[in-house]
Amino acid sequence: MAQFPKDFVWGASTCAYQIEGAAQEDGRGETIWDRFSHTPGRIKDGSNGDVACDHYHRYRDDVKLMRQLNHNGYRGSIAWARIFPTGSGAPNPAGVDFYKRLVDSLLEAGITPFFTLYHWDLPQVLQDQGGWANRETALRFVDYARYITGQLGDRVKHWITHNEPWCTTFLSTYLDIHAPGGKDLKLTLQNAHHVLLSHGLTVPAIREVVPGAVIGMAPNYVPAYAVTDNPKDVAAAHRFDGFFNRWFIDPLAGRGYPPDMWEYYGANVPQITPGDMDIIAAPLDFLGLNYYDRAYVVDDPTSTHVPHTRGVPSSQEWRTADRDVYPDGLYDMLRRVYLDYNFPALYITENGAAFSDEISADGAVHDADRVEFLQAHFNQAARAIDTGIPLKGYFVWSLLDNFEWSQGYTLRYGITYIDYATQRRIVKDSGLWYRDFISQNRA
Ligand code: FCB
Repeated sequence: MAQFPKDFVWGASTCAYQIEGAAQEDGRGETIWDRFSHTPGRIKDGSNGDVACDHYHRYRDDVKLMRQLNHNGYRGSIAWARIFPTGSGAPNPAGVDFYKRLVDSLLEAGITPFFTLYHWDLPQVLQDQGGWANRETALRFVDYARYITGQLGDRVKHWITHNEPWCTTFLSTYLDIHAPGGKDLKLTLQNAHHVLLSHGLTVPAIREVVPGAVIGMAPNYVPAYAVTDNPKDVAAAHRFDGFFNRWFIDPLAGRGYPPDMWEYYGANVPQITPGDMDIIAAPLDFLGLNYYDRAYVVDDPTSTHVPHTRGVPSSQEWRTADRDVYPDGLYDMLRRVYLDYNFPALYITENGAAFSDEISADGAVHDADRVEFLQAHFNQAARAIDTGIPLKGYFVWSLLDNFEWSQGYTLRYGITYIDYATQRRIVKDSGLWYRDFISQNRA
């Protein structure tokens, strides 16, 4: 069995909009995801996050569940619009209070909280003022971050500025799949620059107000492999890597934007103010990586989209949710990020898969696929640790089935099944397996 250090952080990951519900409660402001999910045609099953897993009211039970499952860490996110309903101005005490109570519960249960400050739920008022294309949004983010980390920072030390900036930008305003929608490459690259800038400005702000802060970011990472040895396909895989991974991680690591991609994007490159790249390179304590799948690509000059590649279906064992699941990619990613960049520590901040889970006649959810999936990925993580890579923790996506963005409730990623009609939580076989795996590793 794969062996992990005794102090390894084991837990699950969630996100405010996907689980909290209570969208109109206690002064929470509207976000771009409220607006988007209520726009007809945007969400596969016509659903939204108004109620989701009702975690806002059931957080005590959910923390109890984590404890029963032997988790010693938890990665959640904070809803900006609960703290500043219009994105800035006066804070909303009721919103702050919710997260204080959540932190109390976690600490009582012996669970170390890691909080993400931005998991895509931009306050709608800021979107109305230009969203991430407006440089001011980065400054409002810093104000919000400084305030909430100051409020919780006596007890919460682990902070993640952004979740998956590629999704915040490309998936949203270029591929038109996530809020607020759009198909504009130039705008998207400007958004990405301001997201990165907001990150860089926030790191020192958190350090100022949280003594002993441990700060990172959680980009999603998709390792790219060329299908053939043809130099065009090899170049295509490198370009995909630039598009998805390097565009975000190179600047964090102090390298600026990758020159090959800068050239490739031509007139669409963002406007940069002198000094921005130094700000973005603020030293981090760790890098979180969200890992789901790989890109297996060939060159495709006829594609209407950057990065002009085409994914080729591969015969992997777990072809689910249209993803090319590839456990070895987790090792390849950790190794590459470790050897190529200088982050002092790495975490897997998300990893999981959606399967067609059902409640069986015996009342249980027998998700054998997910057990195998986790096992295979943990093996790769252990392999990385064996070679000296400083991987410090693993957060499975997700603790609960939840509102899966544009897919609504049609995809179940949880290690716990949610019966949405009753909000009953049923720990799946994978959740029980994970519980036992954790305790064996701690023994
Ligand atoms: C990631 C997101 C997370 C969830 C999983 C399935 O890209 O960060 O919120 O949607 O995918």
